[in-house]
Amino acid sequence: MNILLIGGSGFVGGHLAAHLSAGGHSVLIPTRRRERAKHLTVLPTVDVVEADVHDEAQLAALMRHRDAVINLVGVLRGGNGDPYGAGFARAHVELPRKIVRAVQNCGVPRLLHMSALGADPRAPSAYLRSKADGEAAAFAVSPAVGVTVFRPSVIFGRGDSFLTLFARLLRRLPIVPLACPDARFQPVWVEDVAAAFCASLPRRESFGPMEFLPGAPLTRDNVRSMQVPSVCDNVDGLPFALSATPLETVAPSYLAQPT
Ligand SMILES: NC(=O)c1ccc[n+]([C@@H]2O[C@H](COP(=O)([O-])OP(=O)(O)OC[C@H]3O[C@@H](n4cnc5c(N)ncnc54)[C@H](OP(=O)(O)O)[C@@H]3O)[C@@H](O)[C@H]2O)c1
Repeated sequence: MNILLIGGSGFVGGHLAAHLSAGGHSVLIPTRRRERAKHLTVLPTVDVVEADVHDEAQLAALMRHRDAVINLVGVLRGGNGDPYGAGFARAHVELPRKIVRAVQNCGVPRLLHMSALGADPRAPSAYLRSKADGEAAAFAVSPAVGVTVFRPSVIFGRGDSFLTLFARLLRRLPIVPLACPDARFQPVWVEDVAAAFCASLPRRESFGPMEFLPGAPLTRDNVRSMQVPSVCDNVDGLPFALSATPLETVAPSYLAQPT
């Protein structure tokens, strides 16, 4: 497939780009700063371009002749407000709306959208409220487009900010204060997330709503988001017959290294 990977220069995007490339897909990654994604250009079928995906003309040009669009854009700090601050509105809601318009206008048949577990218009955190409106924007796409929304809890793996932050703090401090010691997460390995995105691309059974697994370090809004348990109710393991990789088997391989 010929795939546009928006938000592909970040933590999840880097791992997903490697999976897509290994699967033989051609991948185009737009970024605000090409420097940030330079490491991805070594992947054989991956191209990186500097572009403003908020500009609808540029977005339409990026989408031409694509078989699928994947949107991973997300921010942890988007400002407060009712229902959320301008940064969350721009990245999580306005951008998905523009992406949906462009997907429809350009005739792209497939859209994969990254949300977050606990996304809800009534959630205590602005992050989760804005993610809910982003999901609604994605699902409002015309029926001609197969849409799949992913809702992970916290994602771990090389380059994460979740476990790496705590590992750094534990190395430097005798005591680590926890903002929400009772918070519940269902961490999922980034490679499993990437595998699930790849597996869902051709699968019609993943079109429409779909819950999938793992959060966030530490603004006040992030703390509010931890008041909602970030665990799945009715999902047993991973979709598409993938088996979930336990955190204990992977985390030591990258946390043990000096940072
Ligand atoms: N990491 C987790 O534990 C976790 C858990 C649940 C859900 N998620 C969701 O998964 C997605 C990817 O997360 P991540 O950890 O990979 O994030 P990340 O490393 O911070 O990467 C974010 C990506 O979004 C782009 N981006 C950020 N703000 C933007 C804006 N205002 N306009 C356009 N592009 C923007 C960045 O592109 P540039 O190159 O232009 O900077 C980058 O490619 C997000 O939607 C996040 O909410 C993550």
